[in-house]
Amino acid sequence: MAEQNATETVVISARDVDFFYGEFHALKGVSMDMLEHEVTAMIGPSGCGKSTFLKLLNRMNDFVPGARLAGDILIRGEPVYGPDSDPVDIRRKVGMVFQRPNPFPKSIYDNICYGPRLVGVRAKQELDALVEKALRAAALWDEVKDLLGKSAMDLSGGQQQRVCIARALALEPDILLMDEPTSALDPIATAKVEEWIKTSGLTIVIVTHNMQQAARISDRTAFFYMGSLVEFGKTRDLFTRPRETQTENYITGRFG
Ligand SMILES: Nc1ncnc2c1ncn2[C@@H]1O[C@H](COP(=O)(O)OP(=O)(O)O)[C@@H](O)[C@H]1O
Ligand SMILES: [Mg+2]
Repeated sequence: MAEQNATETVVISARDVDFFYGEFHALKGVSMDMLEHEVTAMIGPSGCGKSTFLKLLNRMNDFVPGARLAGDILIRGEPVYGPDSDPVDIRRKVGMVFQRPNPFPKSIYDNICYGPRLVGVRAKQELDALVEKALRAAALWDEVKDLLGKSAMDLSGGQQQRVCIARALALEPDILLMDEPTSALDPIATAKVEEWIKTSGLTIVIVTHNMQQAARISDRTAFFYMGSLVEFGKTRDLFTRPRETQTENYITGRFG
């Protein structure tokens, strides 16, 4: 979580984004800027479009048949959907961690090396260093440094999710997207992942259905409702003095 930063750099900018699954209008005129080194949380009732929006940021909706996008998404000024943009390159720069930990059925070591190997890193020394760095960054190194050859599937849920974070970090992403990353974790594991998010210094966009979590870990919060961005602002402001009645109703538990 960033302190008040003097210079605010916009990393991701969405401009008038509309998205359709066939006839269904899933996102309606969404515009928002996400800032460097900040944690941006997206909240709102189930089905309001949070995951759809998140996946647009690294072109994970490209394979959905009948889907259509209008508007612009820019990352550091470059169009994510421009004629020259390369989805593989974008997904390397914009990492993703999913709701359920999804380590590969391989060793911890091979999970972390998976991405770097794909992009051509071969030297053992270099891979060893990458693995250690990524596991340290994901606050998992001390727990697994003597078990690197063990299957990641044998770890606890919280450890598996941190393997997935480390796997994403091994590609040194510019941005990390997280879709309800703690919803399958127990409170202790959740606290560890939250602590990591707060202190990572990365630019993070996180979907959560847990408002307390958004309040704890994010700098800014976006409230979505039925495909529209209702309100977006500093997390403290949004939770203490929301501008919109819909936001107030949601955060006070009147619906959702
Ligand atoms: N692949 C898809 N095809 C058709 N409709 C979809 C698809 N994915 C999501 N939707 C619909 O789009 C809406 C938004 O979904 P989603 O972004 O997953 O919401 P959230 O993450 O906020 O729960 C929902 O009504 C959902 O049913
Ligand atoms: Mg979702």
